Amino acid sequence: MPRSVYLETFGCQMNELDSELVSGQLRALGYAFTPDPHAADVVLYNTCSVREHAEQKVWSRLGELKAAKEQRPGLVVGVLGCMAERDGESLMRRMPVVDVMCGPGELDKLPMLLDNAVRTRAGLLADPDISAPQVSARQAALQGNTSRRSATLAAAQDTLEMLDLSRATFASDADAGTPRKTAYVRITRGCNKFCTYCVVPFTRGAEVHRPPQHIIDECKLLADQGVIEITLLGQTVNHYRFEHGAAVTVGGVVQPQKGRAYQGGHNRDPFAGANVTTFADLLRRIHDEVPAIARLRFVTSYPRDFGDDVLEVIRDHPRICRYLHVPAQSGSNRLLSLMNRGYEVGEYLEFLDRARGYLHQPELGRPLMVSGDFIVGFPTETDADFEASMDLLRRARYKNSFIFKYSPRPGTVAIDKFEDDVPEDVKRSRNNIMLAAQNQISDEIGREQVGREFEVFVEGLSPRARKRRAREAVALTIGGRAQAQGGPGPDESSQDVQLSARTDGDLIVLFDAPPGVTASSLVGRLMRVRISGAGPLWLTGVPVTG
Ligand code: SAH
Ligand code: SF4
Ligand code: F3S
Repeated sequence: MPRSVYLETFGCQMNELDSELVSGQLRALGYAFTPDPHAADVVLYNTCSVREHAEQKVWSRLGELKAAKEQRPGLVVGVLGCMAERDGESLMRRMPVVDVMCGPGELDKLPMLLDNAVRTRAGLLADPDISAPQVSARQAALQGNTSRRSATLAAAQDTLEMLDLSRATFASDADAGTPRKTAYVRITRGCNKFCTYCVVPFTRGAEVHRPPQHIIDECKLLADQGVIEITLLGQTVNHYRFEHGAAVTVGGVVQPQKGRAYQGGHNRDPFAGANVTTFADLLRRIHDEVPAIARLRFVTSYPRDFGDDVLEVIRDHPRICRYLHVPAQSGSNRLLSLMNRGYEVGEYLEFLDRARGYLHQPELGRPLMVSGDFIVGFPTETDADFEASMDLLRRARYKNSFIFKYSPRPGTVAIDKFEDDVPEDVKRSRNNIMLAAQNQISDEIGREQVGREFEVFVEGLSPRARKRRAREAVALTIGGRAQAQGGPGPDESSQDVQLSARTDGDLIVLFDAPPGVTASSLVGRLMRVRISGAGPLWLTGVPVTG
């Protein structure tokens, strides 16, 4: 019997990609995956530390596992990702239920750690001379073998590159069932910005750019597997630059050395040339060398390092999406400075104008869509600072915004230097006010699209259709013989086949599959729809035929 694994992922797209890569490796080693934590021999959480709330979710999951582990002592529990990196051994002390811990910089070692943990537990449990409490005690002593954090994140980089390259060896999606049509590809690891509130530079380490050829080969591999949409990932994705001349080889992997600092600014990368692959070069190469990729997107962009060269490449290459996610975080220059963001509001707005100048072409069916992030209640934030953020939100006209209440994170500059002095109820009310304003803007932007035609990428059933399917499935189970008697199955014959799709500007469009066409045949495909209605969260449309 293969060991069955339940893996749950929290946090950002980086974590989703890491989970996919880790699953591929474990599958290749004979582990099977289950969607039911109660049926699993191994429970893994790939965790996020960015806000306290994200960590609390994992703590409560771990708490729930206590009873399960008492009933099934062979159960192995692992905490992966940013919490494992940040909390380290203290997490294991606080939660003895955890057997394995593995930070994002060490994920390539997870199969080995897991194997150690499984054997350790099985061996201890099989020993007739030791009692249950002793199992726990011995296990604690052995945990050195099952816990990896990146004491030297930099040294982990060449083996980490292997994790991304493992896609070539383990066709994870093909094994996982229906092949996917969309995928993430990492171009940069880590972050060097050290925004004062943020744990990411501590959990993911210093910024390292992957060699362009590795990235392009990975895109080709995915395209060969049927993927038509790729989202490039980096914490400051547009900061990508790879210096070829300075590359050295470590363990057979090309390893970039620390490059000259990119000055930012609003023109071209000053060091662009034969020896450097800039972000603009990389986008152009993927677009031209992997034509099967119908949609090329990237997140998350940093507002400062956007040269005109990048905007020109996006404008001139039709398969690059007109979508930018460029968090501003605050509209107050005083707070931006306390956050160490490195730009002022005026520069941010100038960038947005410049980007729209190049890329906003609604008359060609290609409006530029921009989304943003804000933090409310950062230490010392006054009503006037908050008003400045509201002002920026209104002027930027984001299609949507992610709005977060400031959460002090251990290890960051902000928690040491600034008192968390904005009361929780003020944070909450600022959050709600901002969300309401954003909803109104999203609604307006949605209405502007009515009557326009877009090419959309069909992602799957709409939430409404999914719920209905789930209800039908339950009714079938309760009704028992319905299916055997030829009653409607939960799949194709259902009347409700509303689909959910996305424009290249990342707007969600819901529409009904044309009569006689099965929903599943459209998923993962591009098609044209005309927008017929709008709301703050999604648009509705009708397929355009002919
Ligand atoms: N690299 C990206 C975002 C990384 S974290 C960028 O720089 O834009 C995702 C978002 O979480 C951030 O944009 C920020 O808005 C929010 N965030 C990060 N740390 C936070 C904290 N301590 N409290 C509240 N929100 C935080
Ligand atoms: Fe965090 Fe700032 Fe880096 Fe984004 S740019 S990951 S907010 S430190
Ligand atoms: Fe969270 Fe780590 Fe991503 S802290 S946001 S999972 S990089």
